[in-house]
Amino acid sequence: MKYSIWIALMLFISSVSAQKNDKLKEELASKEIKPVPNWTKKQIYEKVDSVLALMSLDEKIGQLYQIGTPMGDVSDLGEVNDVRDPSYYLKKGCVGSILGNKSALKAYELQKYAVEETRLGIPLFFDFDVIHGHKTIFPVNLGLACSWDMDAVEQSCAITAKESTVSGTNFHNGPMIDVSRDARWGRCTEGVGEDPYLGSLIARASVRGYQGDDLTDRHTMIACGKHFAAYGAVEAGRDYNTVDISERTLREIYFPPFKAAVDEGIGSLMPSFNVIDGVPCAGNEWLLKTVGREEWGFEGIYLSDFNSIHELVIHGLAKDDAEASILAMNATLDQEMVSQAYVLNLKKLVKQGKVSLHQVDASVKRILRYKFELGLFDDPYRYIDIKGEETIHCAPEHKKAAREIATKSMVLLKNDTITETQKTLLPISKDTKSIALIGPFVKTKEIEGAWAWGDRKHLVTVKEGFVNRLGEDFDLKVVEGYRYRGKQGKRRDWDKALQAAKESELVVLCMGEPQGYSGEAASRAELDFPGEQKELAEEILKLNKPTILVVFTGRPLVMKWYHDNFPSILCAWFPGTETGNALTDVLFGDVNPSGKLVMSFPYHVGQCPVYYNHLNTGRPYTEGDNNRFVSRYMDIPNKPLYEFGYGLSYTTFEYSDITISNHRLKSGKELKVSVNVKNTGDYDGEETVQLYIHDIVASVARPVKELKDFKKVMIKSGENRTVEFTITEEQLKYWNKDMKYDSDAGDFNVFVGTSSDKYLKTQFEFIK
Ligand code: BGC
Repeated sequence: MKYSIWIALMLFISSVSAQKNDKLKEELASKEIKPVPNWTKKQIYEKVDSVLALMSLDEKIGQLYQIGTPMGDVSDLGEVNDVRDPSYYLKKGCVGSILGNKSALKAYELQKYAVEETRLGIPLFFDFDVIHGHKTIFPVNLGLACSWDMDAVEQSCAITAKESTVSGTNFHNGPMIDVSRDARWGRCTEGVGEDPYLGSLIARASVRGYQGDDLTDRHTMIACGKHFAAYGAVEAGRDYNTVDISERTLREIYFPPFKAAVDEGIGSLMPSFNVIDGVPCAGNEWLLKTVGREEWGFEGIYLSDFNSIHELVIHGLAKDDAEASILAMNATLDQEMVSQAYVLNLKKLVKQGKVSLHQVDASVKRILRYKFELGLFDDPYRYIDIKGEETIHCAPEHKKAAREIATKSMVLLKNDTITETQKTLLPISKDTKSIALIGPFVKTKEIEGAWAWGDRKHLVTVKEGFVNRLGEDFDLKVVEGYRYRGKQGKRRDWDKALQAAKESELVVLCMGEPQGYSGEAASRAELDFPGEQKELAEEILKLNKPTILVVFTGRPLVMKWYHDNFPSILCAWFPGTETGNALTDVLFGDVNPSGKLVMSFPYHVGQCPVYYNHLNTGRPYTEGDNNRFVSRYMDIPNKPLYEFGYGLSYTTFEYSDITISNHRLKSGKELKVSVNVKNTGDYDGEETVQLYIHDIVASVARPVKELKDFKKVMIKSGENRTVEFTITEEQLKYWNKDMKYDSDAGDFNVFVGTSSDKYLKTQFEFIK
């Protein structure tokens, strides 16, 4: 075909498709949103039964099938005979959910097809991963967790729900509430950090944010807690690797956020890729059925992770997809993400009596119930709002919230006084006349973190943030020195960067780990700043200029060298859409940083996994101990460089006078522990006061410390605050040697402090 004819043809096709889209848009705009009656639970169950009664077995199995978003026009699918082609099922009304759709128009086109062109017209779920934002991007989840601010977590999830529901999403593959203790695992960036208690609060706040208190609200969606369970415990931090874990560790460390999400009413959970005691979670009857459904009363939808039913075959649990389907069905796994084990096998398995119709019906009912709860049967188009995409995406109030929340996530790791000036470099002095902004993160928009499809038009780079604050006339020199494109780094204006540093009064060096280095399938054995960043840092430090280090990262890094060489270090994570503005809010002191680490930063990668709530061992090491036969490394310390709960402020807090209302606590009673916290510095600031306990003698060894409560308080400069905690028997319970969740009489240590390693201590006896 001649080139000109080809171009003419393409133009013709695109004009036809534009006309079609305009028509669809007009049609959708003219639709009225129908109110959803206040159906009772009983009415919903009856409605579910009445739909189920109309369904063929194929249609039922279709509800258990999730396909990827089809490309191209679906209004006329024509003849499709290939059973491996997802369109084959779409055409027959045998699809329950669509994964990964990003636009309202496409959602409308697909929903219209499902509702108008298929026999029963059952509406579709639209499922998407909007992990830390849809168009307005919030800090990566690990950073968000460092805010220790549950209102901020809830608000960011609610905004994400609002922005993504207008594009049709009514089901979200999150929150990711995996506890992670190993920084080598790249997916720790999506999670809640190393603590189960904090993780549980985050799980609850996220469910409230995404699901609201009424799923029929057009701006709420079903949340899917993932990955159930212990995905963060993969051996050596290598993604998808084996997990070998005791039931106790599961129940104490990895389960609590999931249990909390279920208690908060989460609509869905996603079994993880890994094995537990040899059985992959997708086919793990003990995990999904015994624990999830029977013990916790989870009645929501289990959605498989991508391809994971088929992976039961690869794990070696099933000889083929048919056997894999039996295992998954027996575990009550309801819907299959993208792979085709269920659609290609279940019908035969039911006919052979290997899977019962009752099992299929139970899964279909759970899915239909949630379609009713979302109001999709009353109005299948209620989540699709093309106008909303214009007005709601990146709305000014969303960006304002993103900016505030990003400032809360940043953690000040170091801020020493500089000997000549006796002052700290942070916050940056208003008298500073010139600044060199250097490093791979100063100009790039590749700073949204893993799983982000934000609107980059709105993304404020580091450079833009500085210019917004200081104005065009300020002597700001912005040179990368080293640049990343994806994971590929190379020198870029290296000498110019050094020159800029030489000519400026202050250097702000933005370095760390590029965003592609964390997230799924991003395990690392080295946790350094990759490429030649360290060389650049060395050369800049040789210039003897006051230099602040800002760290961009999705995970804890090994920063010993940086810690030893920079007086001031701020961990910014990947702050999201408002990166530059939020960063300068903190650097220039409009916001006093208050973030506290939720995952330890190792001293050396050889420590991984390193976490604060470890057991004591029979030979614990205390610093300075020269005994060889204790649990220690010969060549590095045991402690991480920055521990869980650690984070500085521009001000200083002094803890004193720990008091306890009674040194004996009786079952059913409570006691109060309080401390004085004085703001002894020059700035007002927020401090997260943390309460840990240690059960000294129990029927099994207990962690040296467990976070049980915390309070984030604003204390004005010079002010003294008494912070009080209540301790009850509930906080003393644990999974005892008989695997019962109960408390023991005996002595407990209580620690209240600014981090898991800096605290005051008291003690009490619990009497049963
Ligand atoms: C991830 C899930 C995600 C899914 C769909 C998988 O590879 O493990 O977390 O929800 O893809 O995007």
